[in-house]
Amino acid sequence: LKILVSGGAGFIGAHYVGHVLAQGDQVVVVDNFSNSSGAAYLKSLAGPSLEVVRSDVSNREKVFSLVEDCDLVVNFAAWTHNDTALQVPEKFLESNVLGVFVLLEAARFHDKRFHHVSTDEIYGDTPLDADYEFNEGSPIKPSNPYSASKASADHIVNAWHRTFNVRTSISVSCNNFGPYQNLEKFIPRQISRILESQKPQLYGTGLNIREWMPVEINVRCIDAVAKSDHLGQTFNIGSGQRASNIEILTHLLEISDYPKGHIEFIDDRPGHDQRYALDSRQFHSKFPGVFEQFDMVSELARVFNWYRENRLLWH
Ligand SMILES: NC(=O)c1ccc[n+]([C@@H]2O[C@H](COP(=O)([O-])OP(=O)(O)OC[C@H]3O[C@@H](n4cnc5c(N)ncnc54)[C@H](O)[C@@H]3O)[C@@H](O)[C@H]2O)c1
Repeated sequence: LKILVSGGAGFIGAHYVGHVLAQGDQVVVVDNFSNSSGAAYLKSLAGPSLEVVRSDVSNREKVFSLVEDCDLVVNFAAWTHNDTALQVPEKFLESNVLGVFVLLEAARFHDKRFHHVSTDEIYGDTPLDADYEFNEGSPIKPSNPYSASKASADHIVNAWHRTFNVRTSISVSCNNFGPYQNLEKFIPRQISRILESQKPQLYGTGLNIREWMPVEINVRCIDAVAKSDHLGQTFNIGSGQRASNIEILTHLLEISDYPKGHIEFIDDRPGHDQRYALDSRQFHSKFPGVFEQFDMVSELARVFNWYRENRLLWH
């Protein structure tokens, strides 16, 4: 297949490009390089099967011509940092909503398969002590500018399927971690602070719970949905492995031998979601064997070592 990967210079997008190139696909990346922490990884993948185009996804003319030449569009392009969304929410609406609209219009015009990558944040949060999970039929109740922009995009994707018969699908992922993730995100931020002998910082009490998975597993799952004929459908892709921020930080401190207790608690972010939890049974039943079980502490150690050994790539 020839796949247009929008946002392919970002963290998950670049890992997806690596995955599909290894499957023998041809790839065209379109990215405006506004927050492209996967750019170095992309460079290492250079070869005859990979073309990289620097453009904003809201550039209608460019996007229409790129989509025409591909079989499948997989969209990762988005502004993704919750803190930044509080400063410049309009950027999130431009890329995460209007950008998706342009990509979808191009897929409609050229009759191309379109897969959209969404986030568990669209469902909003649960109280910390809740024991329920969100499934694909749960109400969409985003609580901050980032998640509201992502939820809007999902609604538009579904509307374009229903109204215009665009061949769409959506995957809703839990939090990812792995090599080449931007230092603004929780795990690399903690690792980089530990490696620079700065006190790790936690928002509020540090008790917020997230569901985690290694990026390499997520891109396999995304690829399975994107190449499937489950049109007009949404699949939660979670791991069931949930931990509070303070638990993750404690693991990282143990891995690094950094003195425990050296943690700075800082003022909480407004609207900080408490707990995310995905019910991913639908994905597992439709795509058996694609998700791989993993050990969280070993994966954290692997990623910690990557950041320790590749300082030049993130410094
Ligand atoms: N990282 C996670 O834990 C996570 C979890 C669930 C879902 N997601 C979703 O996965 C996708 C990728 O996330 P990520 O963590 O790799 O993000 P990222 O910020 O690392 O990458 C996003 C990429 O999109 C590009 N981009 C942004 N706006 C653009 C525009 N208007 N035109 C062209 N390129 C643009 C950026 O330059 C960057 O390369 C996002 O849609 C995000 O909502 C991420």
